[in-house]
Amino acid sequence: MVNFRRVEVIIRPDADGAARLAARIIARQLRDNPHLVLGLATGRTMECVYGQLVQMHRKEGLDFSLCSTFNLDEYVGLAAEDPHSYRHYMNEQLFRQVNIDRRNTYLPNGRAPDLEIECRNYEATIARFGGIDLQLLGIGQAGHIGFNEPLSALRSRTRVKALAPLTLQQNAASFAGMDQVPRRAITMGVGTILECRRCLLLATGAEKAEIIAQAVEGPITSMISATALQLHARCTVVVDEGAASRLEGLEYYRRLFATEPEWEEFRNQD
Ligand code: GLP
Repeated sequence: MVNFRRVEVIIRPDADGAARLAARIIARQLRDNPHLVLGLATGRTMECVYGQLVQMHRKEGLDFSLCSTFNLDEYVGLAAEDPHSYRHYMNEQLFRQVNIDRRNTYLPNGRAPDLEIECRNYEATIARFGGIDLQLLGIGQAGHIGFNEPLSALRSRTRVKALAPLTLQQNAASFAGMDQVPRRAITMGVGTILECRRCLLLATGAEKAEIIAQAVEGPITSMISATALQLHARCTVVVDEGAASRLEGLEYYRRLFATEPEWEEFRNQD
């Protein structure tokens, strides 16, 4: 039987500390289970996490050789070699810097001839690996996880989504202007994400404070797909002081991290 817990919120003093803690949680899981099936995310927030994992690989011999990875999403129409593709991002930020077997790294193919079949196959491949053990997540300013834009069904599976105006605007910074941002992406569904054994959401910076408060403490709504994480058996939310600043339960969350025995090894490392 699944042991349903609560959303756990951990607050670190700054963005670096938050990324370091997220990387340590991943590293702990990977050491405990070298065959870990790891779900990955993209975005600026994740760059520090991958930087930390690369350091742990170099300095502590963190071993990726047996693990497999599944990314949340990919833009439709971009080739793997395109510097804006998430495949390219992953290769640069993590895969080429650690000892992972590239054949075990999966992202949806945004150039597949039949996108519907591609989405179905992606779900089937995840199932073939026995499901995702730990899914890393960022959060967009519209509250999406992956590219599950407002009104994504809370039981949705991997599919093609049209990107919302706010997402296009937010992601324009990494393209040469808003009209260059692909209009569609393949994304794991909210239902796919909810099936992962553990979720780890990382958000940093005051500009994420309002959406984090809504995601963690607000009512569950398909308008903000991250609120669905409240239904998850085990979701850990790691934030810095900036992103935590609108949370109401701050004092309680701080006390839990400071006193719960399971966090001891993480408390003592900073
Ligand atoms: C994109 C990704 C999301 C990510 C979000 C946040 O939209 N599809 O998975 O969470 O960006 O990105 P950033 O970390 O740059 O704020």
